[in-house]
Amino acid sequence: MIGDMTAPGEAGGSFVAADAEIGVELTLNGARASFSAPARWTLADALREKLGATGTHLGCEHGVCGACTVLLDGEAVRACLVLAVQAEARAVETVEGLAEDDELAPLQQAFHEHHALQCGFWTPGFLMAATALVRNEPDATSERIREALSGNLCRCTGYAPIVAAVRAVLDERAA
Ligand code: FES
Repeated sequence: MIGDMTAPGEAGGSFVAADAEIGVELTLNGARASFSAPARWTLADALREKLGATGTHLGCEHGVCGACTVLLDGEAVRACLVLAVQAEARAVETVEGLAEDDELAPLQQAFHEHHALQCGFWTPGFLMAATALVRNEPDATSERIREALSGNLCRCTGYAPIVAAVRAVLDERAA
């Protein structure tokens, strides 16, 4: 339902009720996708509940833990802080899009080789944040890797293996 939020006599302005179903079309991991969801839904909820992209995990649900990190037009964002309707006509990438067929992406392979995960719950968020870094900053220092991943929490690994995995991918690309 769309209504007028302006006082009588004021110009312009409209709002959408939070529970109004809104149609959204976007690109998910290179394929066109569409769904309809309440206007108040976050992108994380829509990915999980409407598009089956359950690799996008939810931890804190208020922008602290990084578990829900996805790429929006190539930029790492917290999907719990983005409304689903804000993804209209944009490109969303999730952890499901990293591997090609049965072949792990280099970052996934490096995480495996460097034991950069234990419980795995937070791993998709780390992988997506690291994907943005590797793509956009091929010359990133180890300090920069730590900074770029500082918004992602992990209770199991102590972070060092994660940084080593990302470092290995950057080094291999530079070689
Ligand atoms: S669930 Fe989004 S940052 Fe924690």
